[in-house]
Amino acid sequence: MTSLDRRSALLALARGGCALAALGTGCGGEWRQAVVLAPPPEGAACSGAPPPGTAEQGWVEVRLEDHPALATPGGHAEVRLPEALLDVVLVHVSPGCFVALWRICTHGDCAVAWLPDEGVMECPCHGSRFAQDGQILQGPARRPLTAFTAVRKENSVFIHRPR
Ligand code: FES
Repeated sequence: MTSLDRRSALLALARGGCALAALGTGCGGEWRQAVVLAPPPEGAACSGAPPPGTAEQGWVEVRLEDHPALATPGGHAEVRLPEALLDVVLVHVSPGCFVALWRICTHGDCAVAWLPDEGVMECPCHGSRFAQDGQILQGPARRPLTAFTAVRKENSVFIHRPR
């Protein structure tokens, strides 16, 4: 299925039609909100955020060469840095703009996954969904995922992990 077909199917789903068949998952499943990947809102890390500070100030460097998928808008990578108490999905949401979302579901102990075609995080255990700012789109989770400021600088992305 092309990305255009997939987008059309998602829009049909949002209008109430049964587009799940077009996605190859069959009809009759529960409705899920379709969210089209969009640039982050005004004030997000890529629009006016200050440059990253020092490690002592809680900025953690993620080198793009260690996660080549992040070089392209739409790319994402799981970033686990135990020494920084950081376990996130880092997403290149639009050219030069990144978000970092905590990778463990707030409902339980499952690792959430980024769905690039829909621009959401989804938990495989009970289906909670989170927007790219971490807010809940669908339960059963009742608390948002923590979103960390992420700023591109040269060949790295710096994530602010307050201590
Ligand atoms: S553990 Fe994620 S929805 Fe239940």
